[in-house]
Amino acid sequence: MEVILRPTAEDAARLVAHVIAHELRANPHLVLGLATGRTMEQVYRELVRLHREEGLDFSLCRTFNLDEFVGLPPDDPRSYRHYMRRHLFAHVNIDPRNTHLPDGMATDWEAECRRYEALIRRAGGIDLQLLGIGRAGHIGFNEPLSALQSRTRVKALTPVTIEQNAPLFGGAEHVPRRAITMGVGTIMEARRCLLLATGAEKAEIIARAVEGPITSMVTASALQLHPRCTVVLDEAAGALLSQKDYYRWLYENEPEWEWYRTHGFA
Ligand code: F6R
Repeated sequence: MEVILRPTAEDAARLVAHVIAHELRANPHLVLGLATGRTMEQVYRELVRLHREEGLDFSLCRTFNLDEFVGLPPDDPRSYRHYMRRHLFAHVNIDPRNTHLPDGMATDWEAECRRYEALIRRAGGIDLQLLGIGRAGHIGFNEPLSALQSRTRVKALTPVTIEQNAPLFGGAEHVPRRAITMGVGTIMEARRCLLLATGAEKAEIIARAVEGPITSMVTASALQLHPRCTVVLDEAAGALLSQKDYYRWLYENEPEWEWYRTHGFA
C-alpha cells in the first residue's frame, strides 16, 4: 500500500483523475471499476474536463460500478446508475453498453450477483478499481464483519451508512436498507486499487484502515494485502496517520510519481 498526501480535497481528487487518465491512455480497453459518493464528484468533474479539453477517450473503456441500492430503478435520481450518468457517462464518449452496475430492481438477488461476477470475469477482470471509504470503514458496501473473501452479494446497510446517505434521500427513514455490492474478494482481484478519501471526518477511519490491524470490522484494511493499492488523501483525511513524513518522502522521491511532481502535482 502506498499513501499520497495532497494539500486539499481538490488536489487529491485531481491526482486520482490523472492516475485514471494515465491508465486509460496507456490502455484504451481499460476495465475500470467505479465508485459513487460525494468524494468522487470532483474526480468525475476532472475526468470530464480532460475529455473535453484534452481529448481523453473513453470509447473503448468498460466500466463496472461497485454497488447499487436494492429497490431503486436506474432512472431514480438517487440510484447510482443515475449518479454515474449525471456525473460522468452523459459527458464523455463512453458507450452506454460498456457501463455496468448491479441491477437494484432484480427480483432474484443471487442470480443477479452471479450475473455481475460473470460479467466482470468475461471482461477479463478489473484493471483499475476506484474506491472511496465509508465512515464505518467500508469499501463498496462491505459493512463491518463482511468476509474478506466475499463476492458480489446483497448487504444490509449499517446505521452509520444509512446516516451518511440520509441527506441524499431526504431523511434516514427513506434510505434503502440493502445494497448489492461487489465483495471484498471481488475488489481484491482488481489489478490495481486506488482509494480516495478527503475531509476530517474520514481521518479516524483512514488511520485504522491504513495503519491499523487487518480486520473485517474495517473492510478497507483488507487493502493492506493488495499487491498494488494507492491511497490518496488530503491533509485533513491523513491527519491521524503516524508515518506521514515517510509517505511524503516516498511521493517526493519515487520515480513512479515523477510525472505528477513535474506536472502540477508537486
Ligand atoms: C459508493 C461506495 C462507498 C463510498 C463511501 C464514501 O459506490 O462504494 O463505499 O465510496 O461510502 O462515500 P462519500 O464519498 O459520499 O463519503
